[in-house]
Amino acid sequence: MSELVLVTGGAGFIGSHLADALLARGRRVRVLDALSPQVHGPEPRLPAYLSREVEVHVGDVRDPAAVRKALAGVDAVVHLAAEVGVGQSMYALERYVGTNDVGTAVLLEALLERPVRRLVVASSMSVYGEGRCRRADGRLVSGVRRSRAQLERGRWELEDEDGAPLTPVPTPETHPCELASVYALTKYDQERLCLMVGAAYSIPTVALRFFNAYGPRQALSNPYTGVLAIFAARYLNDRAPVVFEDGQQRRDFVSVHDIARACCLALERDGVEGEVFNVGSGQPRTVLEVAAAMARVLGKEGLAPEVTGEYRFGDIRHCFADVTRARQRLGYAPEVDFEAGLEELAEWLRGQRAADHVALARQELSNRGLTLLGSSEAA
Ligand code: UD1
Repeated sequence: MSELVLVTGGAGFIGSHLADALLARGRRVRVLDALSPQVHGPEPRLPAYLSREVEVHVGDVRDPAAVRKALAGVDAVVHLAAEVGVGQSMYALERYVGTNDVGTAVLLEALLERPVRRLVVASSMSVYGEGRCRRADGRLVSGVRRSRAQLERGRWELEDEDGAPLTPVPTPETHPCELASVYALTKYDQERLCLMVGAAYSIPTVALRFFNAYGPRQALSNPYTGVLAIFAARYLNDRAPVVFEDGQQRRDFVSVHDIARACCLALERDGVEGEVFNVGSGQPRTVLEVAAAMARVLGKEGLAPEVTGEYRFGDIRHCFADVTRARQRLGYAPEVDFEAGLEELAEWLRGQRAADHVALARQELSNRGLTLLGSSEAA
């Protein structure tokens, strides 16, 4: 019989694509998913995009009985179940720590009773905080943070201690972790818990630090989802996207298909146990560039982004991946070029409706003092 892989959070965006990729590789797939209303809507229903060949267990990763049941007969596990919003994590602490940290602990305790051949855990580029950058004299720096005073002045760029600008460069896995949000902290916990317990109990474990995943099936009505999906939902409702800071912050947008392939490689490759890998495209793009690209593919160029000059607590300025280690050790190569990935996303979006809750989410953050308006001094 072919191998059975359990994907926690497998009814979600990344998980469902991973399920397809695993099925295409001849694996059997079981999913454990709580069908969270923020992602799946108020009526817990299996998403139509989830392959019929997947065996579904509806349950919470914090529930030991549900996890034990889901692990029966399983050969390998990919742990994706998590709360994912950076902004939201800054007030919904119990929810984030509960699902992400406690959920992982429950899974690991169950795995001690029933070890598997391989555990892959989804970590995040957010564990780095600010990505790597370089001073004018060429020296690399880490551990940079923007001070509140700097943000209040609207000086969005990273600076050295003398106020000189720093240039962002690709971030490798050796870059020190510097946790800037509750979400990042819990992702770090998930990663470390799995690697630590995996090593102690000989459960071969691999951690993947995903960069900003995008593609079809993103939860469009979730205002705390990734920026591309939020922008898409705005455009679909004929509204301009809302852009934090000055829109020049850079991220690494990676197609969900590349992410799914990296997960398969992490399940299959020998000799990578205990390692951590960046999974990105390696290409930096500004938030304003992706807003413009999204507008172009959706034919919404008339809707100019609203640049708010607000800082969202928990956000970092720039981070994009150095994927050398994943190339060399996992055999991973990003294959989906951004323009092609956006076209695919646009194609899927044409058949979608999206409830736009962005204004509400922004209000929620602002009511809690989790946004800060920078003055335009730096502009
Ligand atoms: C995202 C993911 C996180 C994942 C990480 C990996 C979400 C919610 N977050 O975090 O789970 O681990 O990538 O790289 O999916 N922005 C706007 N307007 C908006 C929303 C966001 O300007 O309406 C800006 C933000 O201020 C930020 C940038 O876009 O500067 C990216 O934000 P976001 O998509 O939330 O991603 P990350 O914080 O990078």
